[in-house]
Amino acid sequence: MIRFENVEKWFGPLQVLADVSGEVRRGEVKVLVGPSGSGKSTLIRTVTRLERIQGGRVLVGGADIAARGLDINRLRQRVGFVFQAYNLFPHLSALGNITLGLTKLRRMSRAAARERAMEELARVGLTEKANEMPGMLSGGQRQRVAIARSLAMDPEVMLFDEPTSALDPEMVGEVLVAMKRLAAGGMTMICVTHEIGFAREVADEIWFMEAGKVIERGRPAELASASAHPRLAGFLHMVGHHR
Ligand SMILES: Nc1ncnc2c1ncn2[C@@H]1O[C@H](COP(=O)(O)OP(=O)(O)OP(=O)(O)O)[C@@H](O)[C@H]1O
Ligand SMILES: [Mg+2]
Repeated sequence: MIRFENVEKWFGPLQVLADVSGEVRRGEVKVLVGPSGSGKSTLIRTVTRLERIQGGRVLVGGADIAARGLDINRLRQRVGFVFQAYNLFPHLSALGNITLGLTKLRRMSRAAARERAMEELARVGLTEKANEMPGMLSGGQRQRVAIARSLAMDPEVMLFDEPTSALDPEMVGEVLVAMKRLAAGGMTMICVTHEIGFAREVADEIWFMEAGKVIERGRPAELASASAHPRLAGFLHMVGHHR
C-alpha cells in the first residue's frame, strides 16, 4: 500500500531522511517512534507530498507519488492525515467540518453528505456533538471529529502524527479507542506516537528512527528482547519513565 524506497530529504544543508526504505502492506499498522527531530513527521508527510523528497521514491498503491500527471488532490483524499494540533475549521460545526469535503470534493448532495457525516460521528461516539462548534469541544472530541472527517472521505490509508500528544491525559484514551477500532477494522495505518501501550496492542511493527534513519524495526512482541533491539528498548524504557 505504501512503499518507501531509499528516501532522502534535505532541508538546506540538513539531511533529515537518509536512505529510508520500508513497506506498509494493506491492513497493516506501523508505529513510528524515535527522539524529537529524528524525522518521523517528515517521513509521513512525504506520503501525501506535504514534503518533497530529493532522492528515492514513495509509492502509494503502487504509484510513484512524484509522477508527472499524478492528481495530488485525489491522492490526498485517498490518504487521511490527522495531526497533533486539531486542524478543524473553527467557524464550522463538527458536522460542517465533515460535510465540507464531501460536498466540495466529492460533489455529494448536502443531504447525502449530512447522512454520511452523521454516520462517521456516530462511529467516534459524537452524535450528540454534531452541531457544536470546535471551540465548544474538548481536545479529545476535536481529535475524534478530525478522525471522522478523514474517514468520511473513504481513505485507503490513515496517517497519524502524534494525535494524542497535545491532549490532557484523561482525553488520550478516547482517541486511542477510535484508532484501535479503525485498526481492528482493517485500516492501513502509519502512526507516529509514543503511546507504547497502543503500539504493543495494535502495531504490526514498530519502526525506530534516529537522525533520519529507521535504525531498528520489530514486532511489539520482540521488543521485550532488549538484546535484539537495544536502541529501541532503551528509548522505550526512557519514554516509559518520563510519562
Ligand atoms: N520546514 C523545515 N525547515 C527546516 N528544517 C526542518 C523543517 N521541518 C523539519 N525540519 C527539521 O527536520 C528534522 C526532522 O524533523 P521532524 O519534524 O520530522 O522530526 P520528528 O521526529 O517528527 O520530531 P518530533 O518528535 O519533535 O515531532 C529536524 O531536525 C527539524 O528541525
Ligand atoms: Mg514530529
